[in-house]
Amino acid sequence: MAIKRTWQLWLLSLLTHAILLFTASSQSINGDDLSALLAFKSLIRNDPREVLSSWDAISNATNMTTPVFCRWTGVSCNDRRHPGRVTTLNLSDAGLAGTISQQLGNLTLLRVLDLSNNSLDGDIPASLGGCPKLRAMKLSTNHLSGTIPADLGQLTKLAVFDVGHNNLTGDIPKSLSNLTTLAKFIVERNFIHGQDLSWMGNLTSLIHFVLEGNSFTGNIPETFEYGSGSPVSMDGDIYSYGVLLLEMFTGRRPTDNFIDGIISLVDYVKMAYPNNLLEILDTNATYNGNTQDMTQLVVYPIFRLGLACCRESPSERMKMDNVVKELNAIKKTFSAHIYA
Ligand SMILES: *[C@@H]1O[C@H](CO)[C@@H](O)[C@H](O)[C@H]1NC(C)=O
Ligand SMILES: *[C@@H]1O[C@H](CO)[C@@H](O)[C@H](O)[C@H]1NC(C)=O
Ligand SMILES: *[C@@H]1O[C@H](CO)[C@@H](O)[C@H](O)[C@H]1NC(C)=O
Ligand SMILES: *[C@@H]1O[C@H](CO)[C@@H](O)[C@H](O)[C@H]1NC(C)=O
Ligand SMILES: *[C@@H]1O[C@H](CO)[C@@H](O)[C@H](O)[C@H]1NC(C)=O
Ligand SMILES: *[C@@H]1O[C@H](CO)[C@@H](O)[C@H](O)[C@H]1NC(C)=O
Ligand SMILES: *[C@@H]1O[C@H](CO)[C@@H](O)[C@H](O)[C@H]1NC(C)=O
Ligand SMILES: *[C@@H]1O[C@H](CO)[C@@H](O)[C@H](O)[C@H]1NC(C)=O
Ligand SMILES: *[C@@H]1O[C@H](CO)[C@@H](O)[C@H](O)[C@H]1NC(C)=O
Repeated sequence: MAIKRTWQLWLLSLLTHAILLFTASSQSINGDDLSALLAFKSLIRNDPREVLSSWDAISNATNMTTPVFCRWTGVSCNDRRHPGRVTTLNLSDAGLAGTISQQLGNLTLLRVLDLSNNSLDGDIPASLGGCPKLRAMKLSTNHLSGTIPADLGQLTKLAVFDVGHNNLTGDIPKSLSNLTTLAKFIVERNFIHGQDLSWMGNLTSLIHFVLEGNSFTGNIPETFEYGSGSPVSMDGDIYSYGVLLLEMFTGRRPTDNFIDGIISLVDYVKMAYPNNLLEILDTNATYNGNTQDMTQLVVYPIFRLGLACCRESPSERMKMDNVVKELNAIKKTFSAHIYA
């Protein structure tokens, strides 16, 4: 009987797997993503480097799980549960001229859109607001005009928004105050004229923003810490030590592909600091007590310490003996608390 049940379970799991595979392949046959990509190509007037030459609906055949378009230049499909869906469209530096198809909004599992440094004109498609997984949108250095669509306020996972060096006009839509995960916000060198930027104070994850080269008349909230944007220097023991601390307590490696390689481990922690630290804590670090105590006594001080070691400017980093002192103090307080 037991053997029979095991076999049934195995069959069930096989069936489930088969259904998943079928769904994935029928999705690609249905071709929302395929037609979105072909629609994108159809509005490209000039492709001097022929990067879109591989973009041909009737090229090589495919196996069950991966449709042909996943191997087109600039396209990748990295969603394990939906292997036939586009997750990245990166055609930066390709010299493409044309407009951006509204149909890109049908790539509903898109996480990275990078069309930067081309010669694209026309509007930013408002339909991109329909790509809820989008983490990075880079449309900088093109000839885009019109306004930033208010619909982009629906992209609640967006971490990087870069539309610098275009011909955009109008105000920045207040709907973007929704983007509480936004870390980089770059609109430099456009013709944007914001008047009331107080809503930007709601962008609590922002670590780097560049508005210069526009005609803003409003005040920018003072609550921001300005990121200098310079690459972090990796020398200095204290920096490496800080990264090690962040690694230990997040359970993640600096080499993990945070947001497809755009966000570093330090940025990742900064985005969660100080209010969402429990979300980035290593899931193995469970403690069956009051999480508020744990946050106050350990999590918050540890991440504060880690970040203090990882300041971009070496002169602002903590001194090693102070780090050791603080760590000991945290340990002592916490031990006293759990053994009380
Ligand atoms: C099809 O795939 C084969 C082997 O990978 C390759 O040699 C050939 O050029 C491909 N043809 C097209 C039209 O992409
Ligand atoms: C078939 O799909 C797998 C992964 O889904 C991929 O690794 C492999 O390269 C594909 N085979 C061909 C011939 O495209
Ligand atoms: C797009 O591709 C270029 C070149 O391969 C790379 O440098 C860039 O980081 C990619 N963009 C994103 C957002 O990953
Ligand atoms: C932009 O793309 C061109 C090629 O089209 C390349 O030569 C140039 O270096 C790129 N500029 C930047 C800033 O990446
Ligand atoms: C794709 O998007 C366009 C414009 O946003 C829409 O009109 C169309 O119905 C969509 N196509 C599919 C197949 O969903
Ligand atoms: C912006 O528009 C003006 C006038 O149409 C044009 O001369 C200029 O090259 C455009 N700049 C960009 C970056 O597209
Ligand atoms: C903010 O996001 C919510 C969903 O997260 C959405 O319903 C709402 O329309 C967005 N607001 C704006 C102004 O875009
Ligand atoms: C900013 O957040 C506050 C508090 O959550 C909210 O009351 C306010 O409406 C938000 N502002 C905008 C422009 O969304
Ligand atoms: C977390 O737990 C899993 C399973 O118990 C284990 O494989 C993994 O190595 C642990 N991770 C860390 C960072 O300890």
